Amino acid sequence: MIVRFTMERKQYWMLGIACSGALGMMLVNYSVTGSVFPIPHISKTAISESASTPHPAIAAEQKPSMPQEQQPLPSPHEEPAVKHASLEPPPAPSAQTNQPSPTPPSKVAGSKKIALTFDDGPDHKYTPQVLDILKHSGVKATFFVVGDQVKKYPDVLRRIYAEGHAIGNHSWDHADLSKLTPTRIAQEIKQTDDSVKGLIGAVPSMVRAPYGAVSSAVKKEVELTGRPLVGWNVDPRDWAGTSVTDIVYNVQTHAKAGSIVLLHSFGGKDGKLDNTVEALPQIIALLQQNGFELVTVPEL
Ligand code: NI
Repeated sequence: MIVRFTMERKQYWMLGIACSGALGMMLVNYSVTGSVFPIPHISKTAISESASTPHPAIAAEQKPSMPQEQQPLPSPHEEPAVKHASLEPPPAPSAQTNQPSPTPPSKVAGSKKIALTFDDGPDHKYTPQVLDILKHSGVKATFFVVGDQVKKYPDVLRRIYAEGHAIGNHSWDHADLSKLTPTRIAQEIKQTDDSVKGLIGAVPSMVRAPYGAVSSAVKKEVELTGRPLVGWNVDPRDWAGTSVTDIVYNVQTHAKAGSIVLLHSFGGKDGKLDNTVEALPQIIALLQQNGFELVTVPEL
């Protein structure tokens, strides 16, 4: 019994010495390296990564997300880059200079938008031909209609609306609004609004002054209706008997992203707009071949 007791006591003693030795080494190591164990070269992240990598298959699935996690988060006041790309051509900040391809991504092509507009209709001769061409091409356009033409050709106005085109107010009788009193300007706009609303249940969403003649009174009266006053920046003078070649060439040389092209669907010189109708498919094909998307003015 005594021998066994002394033997066990001896084992306890040796165990106690070994433990206090190990404890001492840990203390020394901790005071020198900051780590209890003598493994200073393995960082904490390495430990946590190796510990959280359970299976090669899972690790492989997780890999694609790693570069995203490493990207810096955008600061709160910056919009995501994708939003910019869909709205405008990408700027050239210094951060992008190391990107290999100068060709813009396909999304940017969508931002090359042009609006075709047709004024002075509706009528029963040219407006339906214009609508046929637009329908055939799958293109939406904008028609700035004159009130007394709407009154004469209500079905054509309904067709414009039914086929998804945008409608603008172009006065009641194509008067030069800049020469009218504010009261008369307001009447010209309201009369056409009422006429259109009676047919499609909504007033035109924008206004265009006849001849582009805008005075401060015109601006103010249109502003009071809460709608934009829309002009144009490409004018091939299709109403003046301009040749098909010249109409197409004019649009070709002046159209750029954001352009509004002025054409007519009623009221050309001697009442003729055959060149407009003949030029239209060529204009559409040309603009589309150059990467332009043809949209309505509100979509522009
Ligand atoms: Ni006009």
